[in-house]
Amino acid sequence: MDKIAAAAQKFALLIEEQLKRVERIKSVKEFINYGALPEIIIGTVGGDGIGPAITAQSSRVLEFLLAKEISAGKVSIRAIDGLTIENRVKAGSAIPDDVLAELKKCHVILKGPTTTPQAGGPWANVESANVAMRKELDLFANVRPVRVPELGIDWTFFRENTEGAYVLGSSGIEVDGDLAIDFTVATTQGTERIVRAAFDYAEKNGRTRVTAVTKANVIKTTDGKFLKICKEIAKEYPGIEFDDWYIDIMTAKLIDEKRRKDFQVMVLPNLYGDILTDEAAEFQGGVGTAGSANIGRQYAMFEAIHGSAPRMVEEGREIYADPSSMLRAAQMLLAHIGYADEAGKLQKAMDICAITEKKVRLTGRSDGATNKEFSDYVMEVVAGV
Ligand code: IPM
Ligand code: MG
Repeated sequence: MDKIAAAAQKFALLIEEQLKRVERIKSVKEFINYGALPEIIIGTVGGDGIGPAITAQSSRVLEFLLAKEISAGKVSIRAIDGLTIENRVKAGSAIPDDVLAELKKCHVILKGPTTTPQAGGPWANVESANVAMRKELDLFANVRPVRVPELGIDWTFFRENTEGAYVLGSSGIEVDGDLAIDFTVATTQGTERIVRAAFDYAEKNGRTRVTAVTKANVIKTTDGKFLKICKEIAKEYPGIEFDDWYIDIMTAKLIDEKRRKDFQVMVLPNLYGDILTDEAAEFQGGVGTAGSANIGRQYAMFEAIHGSAPRMVEEGREIYADPSSMLRAAQMLLAHIGYADEAGKLQKAMDICAITEKKVRLTGRSDGATNKEFSDYVMEVVAGV
């Protein structure tokens, strides 16, 4: 077959797949109601590198905070193994089938970082486990808060999590040795649900501004659609101010001390959200300090925003890895399943332990505390707040 026809055929299959996805989005309207479940099942997934070490600590803190509910049978926490890079490469799949089946038996998931292979690296180039889980469980809203009270920074990013440059990121087309094409995707349904999530969050949390971040002046079709839908939905929320910025100038404005305080809730396509949230987390002390919620209508997954830091493990330093990101993830998980008091306590304790008091210091090395010592400190403070 001639190469243009071969590429066109692959493209046709991708379109078909995406049209089916739109139908799937349309078919699930209801959000799961955690309050109505007899038992909430929390799955914990260690992942790779420093993942198991920091996830274990975060899980321990969750068990501590939910001790009463666990003994009353209202909540259970179960560890799910097998999402390691070794297993994923062996299965030739981003999430081996048996692991996916276990994940789907849980209502919410606490997930440690997983190694993401890249072409030419030591591992076969399977799709990212994060990206696959977001797709498989349709976790469309990636919510990433960044707070630095002393700088007046209080941002919540709503990163679209199932579309954009990511959804076909492992399905680009090598037309021939000279031409490679990737795709970026926006659907009406996928955009509306993330934009509404951002406005609803703003409304419920007393925030007064939602800012869209796109590159709609250049990426005209998909970012153009995203921005158009933002503007339409903004009209339904007259009490909330809406503005829009392009991603390039937004990366600059986050370091503009006068301007950055204006931003509150930001809604943005997948790849821009990926990049901007790493920059934003840096103000708070780096990606190690930030948790991330991946929320869908049926499932939700909470994770660190950083990678698996294999070098720390090679150097035997995983016990010194900072568990803060996974503790923040646990805090978001608690809030999401309806344990607002416990989430509030953990947030207060984390602010004391990681920002203000800092009695137990982590350095990532043996001259600092271990992640177990830090988590003990957090639990001690939790008990007192
Ligand atoms: C994140 C990470 C992931 C992403 C990687 C590990 C695939 O950077 O959660 O931001 O790009 O989404
Ligand atoms: Mg990222």
